[in-house]
Amino acid sequence: MASSKQAAQTPEQEIAQLKQQINYHNSLYHQHDAPEIPDADFDAMLARLEKLEAAHPELITPDSPTQRVGDAPLTSFSQIRHEIPMMSLGKVFTEKDLLDFETRIKKRLDTDATIYYSCEPKVDGIAVSLLYENGLLVRGATRGDGVTGEDITHNVRTLGDIPLRLSELKNSSMPTPTRLEVRGEIYMTRSGFAQVNEAAAGTDGGKSFVNPRNAAAGTLRQLDPRVAAKRPLRLFVYATGLVEFADAGSDGSVNGSVNSKAENDANNIVDKWPKELSEIFTLLQEWGFPVNPERALVKGANECLQYAETLLQKRPALDYEIDGAVVKVNNLALQADLGSNARTPRWAMAYKFPAEEMSTFVNEVDFQVGRTGTITPVARLEPVFVGGVTVSNATLHNMDEIARLGLCIGDRVIVRRAGDVIPKIVAVIPAKPDSDDDTDSDLNSELKTRQRIPIEMPEFCPACHSPVEPDGDVLFRCSGGLVCPAQRKEAIRHFSARAAMDVDGLGEKLIEQLVDNGMLKDVADIYHLTAEQLQSMERMGSKSAENLLQAIRNSKQTSLSKFLFALGIREVGEATALALAAHFGALEPILQATAEQLLEIEDIGPIVAEHIAVFFANADNIAVIHRLQDAGVHWPEHQPAVQSDVLQGKIFVLTGTLESMSRDEGKARLQALGAKVAGSVSKKTSCVVAGPGAGSKLEKAEELGVTVIDEAEFLRLLNEFS
Ligand code: IVH
Repeated sequence: MASSKQAAQTPEQEIAQLKQQINYHNSLYHQHDAPEIPDADFDAMLARLEKLEAAHPELITPDSPTQRVGDAPLTSFSQIRHEIPMMSLGKVFTEKDLLDFETRIKKRLDTDATIYYSCEPKVDGIAVSLLYENGLLVRGATRGDGVTGEDITHNVRTLGDIPLRLSELKNSSMPTPTRLEVRGEIYMTRSGFAQVNEAAAGTDGGKSFVNPRNAAAGTLRQLDPRVAAKRPLRLFVYATGLVEFADAGSDGSVNGSVNSKAENDANNIVDKWPKELSEIFTLLQEWGFPVNPERALVKGANECLQYAETLLQKRPALDYEIDGAVVKVNNLALQADLGSNARTPRWAMAYKFPAEEMSTFVNEVDFQVGRTGTITPVARLEPVFVGGVTVSNATLHNMDEIARLGLCIGDRVIVRRAGDVIPKIVAVIPAKPDSDDDTDSDLNSELKTRQRIPIEMPEFCPACHSPVEPDGDVLFRCSGGLVCPAQRKEAIRHFSARAAMDVDGLGEKLIEQLVDNGMLKDVADIYHLTAEQLQSMERMGSKSAENLLQAIRNSKQTSLSKFLFALGIREVGEATALALAAHFGALEPILQATAEQLLEIEDIGPIVAEHIAVFFANADNIAVIHRLQDAGVHWPEHQPAVQSDVLQGKIFVLTGTLESMSRDEGKARLQALGAKVAGSVSKKTSCVVAGPGAGSKLEKAEELGVTVIDEAEFLRLLNEFS
């Protein structure tokens, strides 16, 4: 960059140098995914070029990197006619049909010789034709119907993948064609698509695209090139179309006859022109176009099948969507001999992969209760084969998603299952009001007769009939935390955890077995487990059973705050439980407390207060609490704590491991005493509690001269002030 500002340079020289540098870095970024400089440096070079060009408009050339985005949006698209029609591909779906394709070719060519094929991913994007005159990009067009397409030059110019000028050929003496048409596929990456949709979700309209292909198509169909400039569109090229050289033959054209023997003899440029499609790829790459790295040159139809199999395995890992493999006869002379049918060449075939999108009907919507009580609508579908499996359910995530889709029971929908991703309903297909269009007339008339039933969140939990309550703006939850069978395992796991009732040895696997065998229906059942029951579980001998029963007995003696935390009331963590226990001192007043009374506690806001009130208003939850107390769960009577003046407002940092409690518990206990807990050490830190394994925070504390205490001292401190 520094060199671009050398005083000796004329503006013309500096512009030329900047253009060359920008193109070089652009190609590293787009074609090789290997940038050498940070984006900011690149932007600075571009800004410098823009400035120079503004001062010297006569030096602006159409291939300047500043010319990618024109200023004014178009008012309409103009139609262009493809000089050589853009054909489509024949399709096969089975191995046999691909082998038959080769048999037909061999028969037509009257040969038994091995045929070489160029195998390529069939990228699911938008076919594009790019026209270069004397090496400069002059036009980009869609395929349209193959004969007439739309002029999308303003948009294709914004794609960093598309060279505005052909690069110099290094390994060939072939001159630059006077006209060169390059064909390929513009697509959006899966990751880029996710970002575009995420960004759209945050805007007012919130309209998102159904899939990357639609996003690419929608972008190329924009009149304003600034939209395309912002979207992550990419390109793979796979063919040349029209090719003309100034000194080639009498009519200057090698196109269409590039493979003909007569012209080969008469014309030395035609001699230099590749004889194989694989060489065309090399040439295109040298000109600066991105070609698909997954392409391969293979021998015979059986190797094509192997290629397709491998590609199918790779499909989920690719960052772009493919819908099959394209198999093309590699030799261009053989391609010419084979020729074409009306719309498809005889020398190429698409071997299609299972579709990732299919349409089907929503028969019903059920509501599932997750292990933490979240209620999720799930669509029951008319079974459909999509993405290689039969799909009969699709999650609808939440009620907002249903509203966004405009979905009702009975609707026809597009289901998408890409890779091993879970199936998703991406769009509702509305019934057409008039059925002039008879392409789909059966489905359409079925759609029109089907009843559309609106989807509503149930008032009561489908698993335990406790009231359903909203959770934030979009989610809903079951309020039957302790009694809901759907939440049973999670509730018991939470209850037994070390920071809660600390039932040592009652782990996730065992809880799973005990619940599945009907021995634990709620947390109170833990205190009625017998040695026989435990011994009937996998890997549970009499000794382990006895140890667990002892741990269960030990857990009966607890503290009010641990008990409150163990109940799993929403958003009541260790700190809130401690605050509740400290404020009320006993369980009974907490059970009776109104939301207003709860709000008096510092750190308890209206949402948490509401969760607490709703939890204790549920008679089933109260019954479980009484059964726990009847089984002997108890805690010492506790006087409301007087908050220590000494710790009030002091800032603590916990680092390393604590033996006697989790860091979260340490934090909660400090907070309950009025202290603050920070994540990093600074001059403002009052005290650092350092356990084994403390690292940089401890060093920082020592450096700043902050007081450091160990766990034993920390416990003394807590006991002194609690
Ligand atoms: S060759 C005459 N190669 O598939 C051959 N097409 O139905 C014309 N496509 O419109 C196309 N990847 O949009 C070819 N590697 C590839 C392709 C590819 C995707 C698309 C293209 C074309 C359609 C053919």
